[in-house]
Amino acid sequence: MKEPAKTIRSRIIATGAYAPSKKLTNFDIEKIVDTSDEWIVERTGIKERRTCGTHEAASDLAFEASKIALKNAGLKAKDIDMIIVASVSTDMPFPSTACILQDRLEIKNTPAFDLNAACSGFIYSLSIADSFIRTLTYKRILIVGAEALTKFLDWEDRTTCVLFGDGAGAAILEATDEDRGVLSTKLYADGSLGDFITLEGGGSRNPASKDTLKKKQHFIKMKGNETFKVAVRALENLVIDTLKENNIKPSQLSILIPHQANLRIIQATASRLGLSMDKVMLNLERYGNTSAASIPIALDEAVRTGRVRAGDIVLLEAFGAGLTWASALIKW
Ligand code: COA
Repeated sequence: MKEPAKTIRSRIIATGAYAPSKKLTNFDIEKIVDTSDEWIVERTGIKERRTCGTHEAASDLAFEASKIALKNAGLKAKDIDMIIVASVSTDMPFPSTACILQDRLEIKNTPAFDLNAACSGFIYSLSIADSFIRTLTYKRILIVGAEALTKFLDWEDRTTCVLFGDGAGAAILEATDEDRGVLSTKLYADGSLGDFITLEGGGSRNPASKDTLKKKQHFIKMKGNETFKVAVRALENLVIDTLKENNIKPSQLSILIPHQANLRIIQATASRLGLSMDKVMLNLERYGNTSAASIPIALDEAVRTGRVRAGDIVLLEAFGAGLTWASALIKW
């Protein structure tokens, strides 16, 4: 009798993360805009963030994170056959940061592309990589979330400049027929709410000009409070639906690794799942919101500190500009 075909899944075999060494604390920001450490901690949970130096860009952070992931996987760069970089603060519109990274890694003839789903970008990339691997189209895919968002902040706008930080996280995916790996991914977007978080200048709608500079259109703008409300509702539904569709009870979850934007949003999501906060990976107090890099940086820290172990059920979730939101459920 023929053996039943084994399920092929993709599995994250290694992670790596990197953040620039320069720290900017809330107290440092108190000297720049009318804000306070107390306000920032109470409203967001953030205490400090890392910021790129003048000559550092997203690809530099991506390169460092990728080297660590490759080392942790025991692989050489030539073993990678696709690169996806999730970023909204790419080095430049083109060439893509993924192509720049490919060159830095000295790999040739692999597909490499950037993906823009803002803070949900890492999970979108994971979902795409998962599809390519499950269909055995590519064998080993490097996905990176890399952001140098502090370069796009208006340091006169206290409603945004306190929130964001720079960094990168990388993961390498490979096929497995073991009972583990990516169990499901769910991706969503609602473009009708696109004006909640924007960077309007520099594209074909508002090409760079004296006028776009004057109007500060090359900086991030956010309707924070409106975004907050939609994020809480969308993420609560998302995590419940993700577990339900996979027949997993919240009590079976080993760890929730959320996008690190706001502690209150994360607490609301955990509370909807009935999950105690010790089952939630948090590092936003040290990095701020690093957009597409936040989940892979947090995931890498969870792996390194033994908070994620073989067999664990891990839930990733994110929400960001677009608007976009996404989840991934993984058996580690
Ligand atoms: N320091 C001091 N006061 C500040 C401030 C700062 N850095 N930023 C805003 N304020 C003031 C506002 O001016 C406002 O004052 P007013 O009441 O006199 O008008 C007051 O604080 C409340 O502002 P509000 O925007 O309602 O605060 P909030 O509780 O919504 O918190 C965010 C603001 C941005 C922290 C929060 O809305 C948030 O995290 N939003 C979601 C972000 C997100 O998830 N984005 C998706 C990924 S990028």
